[in-house]
Amino acid sequence: MVSRVIPVDSFDLVVFGGTGDLARRKILPGLFRRFLAGQMPEDARIIGAARAEMDDAGFRALVAEAIGEFGGPASRKADELARFLDRLHYVAIDAKGDGGWPALAQAMRPDVVRAFYFSVAPALFGDLAERLHRHGIATPESRIVVEKPFGRDLASACALNATLAEHFTEHQIYRIDHYLGKETVQNLMAVRFANILFEPLWNARHVDHVQITVAETVGVDGRGSYYDKSGAMRDMVQNHLMQLLCLIAMEPPYRFDPDAVRDEKLKVIHALEPVRPEDIVRGQYRGAGKGTKGSYTDDAENRDSRTESYVALKVNIANWRWKGTPFYLRTGKKLRARASEIAIVFKEVPHSIFGEEEGWRENVLSIRLQPNEGMTLSVMIKEPGPGGMRLTEVPLDMSFADALGEDGTDIPDAYERLIMDVIRGNQTLFMRGDEVEAAWAWTDPIIAGWETRGDKPRGYDPGSSGPEDALMLLHRDGRRWREIRE
Ligand code: BG6
Repeated sequence: MVSRVIPVDSFDLVVFGGTGDLARRKILPGLFRRFLAGQMPEDARIIGAARAEMDDAGFRALVAEAIGEFGGPASRKADELARFLDRLHYVAIDAKGDGGWPALAQAMRPDVVRAFYFSVAPALFGDLAERLHRHGIATPESRIVVEKPFGRDLASACALNATLAEHFTEHQIYRIDHYLGKETVQNLMAVRFANILFEPLWNARHVDHVQITVAETVGVDGRGSYYDKSGAMRDMVQNHLMQLLCLIAMEPPYRFDPDAVRDEKLKVIHALEPVRPEDIVRGQYRGAGKGTKGSYTDDAENRDSRTESYVALKVNIANWRWKGTPFYLRTGKKLRARASEIAIVFKEVPHSIFGEEEGWRENVLSIRLQPNEGMTLSVMIKEPGPGGMRLTEVPLDMSFADALGEDGTDIPDAYERLIMDVIRGNQTLFMRGDEVEAAWAWTDPIIAGWETRGDKPRGYDPGSSGPEDALMLLHRDGRRWREIRE
């Protein structure tokens, strides 16, 4: 099945930080793929804006190189690439002064969608927002896009929200959590709300527990200085895992509408119980020893770092649907496989008519976010052959790529989808200010707790499943983690 491409209105998209890492890796290659898909109107333009002095030709050369490096097979289409590059322009800008702003104002066209991507450090958000207004560039319909980290705690997130609110209304602000742009994450909503099958079972009466795993094989090399001030809790749990949890736990919104969806997610965050210290395990990968090659402390260039590169926690939701069904979350770097999965583990049947059966398993609905995006439902059937009623577990397995007849490499990257949603003016897959603040309000005491107690992360071997203690988190409750594998 070839995906339908719905063209968007014409736009001028300004990418502040247009020469930076995120722009080169994700934003510009993503825009090129949307161009190839035929989604970009003929006259749409992308304007890079950064401090470096260069002209359009210099910027186009830089983007061509970035697409060559990060654009995958698409980058080999030379004719199309040349046509895409024609839409690119560049303005050198001084975010803290007035240099370049009149030129930017002049470059903008009236009567097209204006979007401004703040792919810069959050410390510059206020400067950019203020200058966009001072120079008459922002209109009431303009949109701004901001990236994580959106604050490092509740106070800083509130301050950022307040700064942006001085210049833009909430409906103009698009806070990106790129997990929401992943196809399979959106599929969570489709699976839940477009099928009658799951809803009757989607509650504490039938679900024993939920496991959310985001495992990575990469370490923090190259990003050590950012990551060391952040850690897995701030970098992954407060945003990406929290969003996944919300999509699994939320009530059906009355419509697939930005505020209806975000209202329901917000209610889940408000219902999260504080996490007890004994329900969290923090880990840090250690090579041959602390500070040695292959260790977190070596990658982060901080021998004494107590920052966690792994965290596992048990989360309880205090509402009628979920009371009594824990959600176990874990994420880490340098683990044995790159594998992200949500597993809904159902309860046992109330009574087995087959007597005590060995090999008996609960039903599990596993939703694979990456790689091999798809869903598996494990069911019990009879083992073939005579000799009595022996049961065995088999998977009802579906890969989204196979089911939809698409080449797996055609699945759009999260950024492609999200940037086009900005142009369309659809905020459903973006975080609202109150949602981000609520997520920090829940996260802050957890981090403050281990800072006060001076907790040290447990060591784990690179290539393992994480620290031993994380196993206990579930064993203690008579449960076990699912295997981390691709
Ligand atoms: C980012 C984190 O938001 O998400 C990174 O800052 C992490 O540390 C990345 O590696 C994971 O994203 P993905 O799309 O590769 O799962």
